[in-house]
Amino acid sequence: MKIAIDGPAGSGKSTIAKLIAKNLNITYIDTGAMYRAVTLYFMDKNIPANDLDSIKHELPNIELEFIDNQMHMNQKNVSLEIRTPRVTNNVSNYAKIDIIREDLQNKQKFIALKQSVIMDGRDIGTVVLKDADFKFFLVATVLERARRRLIDLNREGYQMDINLLIEEIERRDAIDASRDHSPLKKADDAIEIDTSKLTIDEVIEKIENIIKRG
Ligand code: DC
Repeated sequence: MKIAIDGPAGSGKSTIAKLIAKNLNITYIDTGAMYRAVTLYFMDKNIPANDLDSIKHELPNIELEFIDNQMHMNQKNVSLEIRTPRVTNNVSNYAKIDIIREDLQNKQKFIALKQSVIMDGRDIGTVVLKDADFKFFLVATVLERARRRLIDLNREGYQMDINLLIEEIERRDAIDASRDHSPLKKADDAIEIDTSKLTIDEVIEKIENIIKRG
């Protein structure tokens, strides 16, 4: 079984996908974590997003692996580091580069060849799992998405002004939705769910009912 979950930042994709993976006993793949890990790699090497020659040269040196839902890059667990504001604020600039997208999309397609998966991202229903059995596109108001992100950041020990978060989310969505290569977009055959006023359990119930009905 292949399930695609797409949507903008903070729409609830990863929380929902992780729980559904557990309930259905299938593999969860957080494709955003892969773009974040690649961003961390290039930032640590001081390679800016416009240095395409260095990016092309370095890409084959980046090995990505999920172990127990944790993102490992070149044998190091980078799950915490990839969530820092430093990476979050730069990831869209690296994620719009064609050679990075093609490399990660190939890796994602390969993972899905061998097993049942639920994958979340921006281009899963439109590109990576075009033939998915189920496609969902989660949306929520920008205020609600900023509020959720603030709760996550507070939990991780960061303080932030909600208005800055709203700006940041809008800026990231704009870059993700306007890039030429596989932009953030609802697939024609995806089911859209507005999660703004729903609890996590309600979203899961909706999705699992649709999957059960086949
Ligand atoms: O889901 P996330 O916020 O962790 O994703 C981080 C960034 O990666 C997001 O701003 C856009 C990019 N991304 C992408 O372009 N395509 C994907 N399939 C997943 C994420």
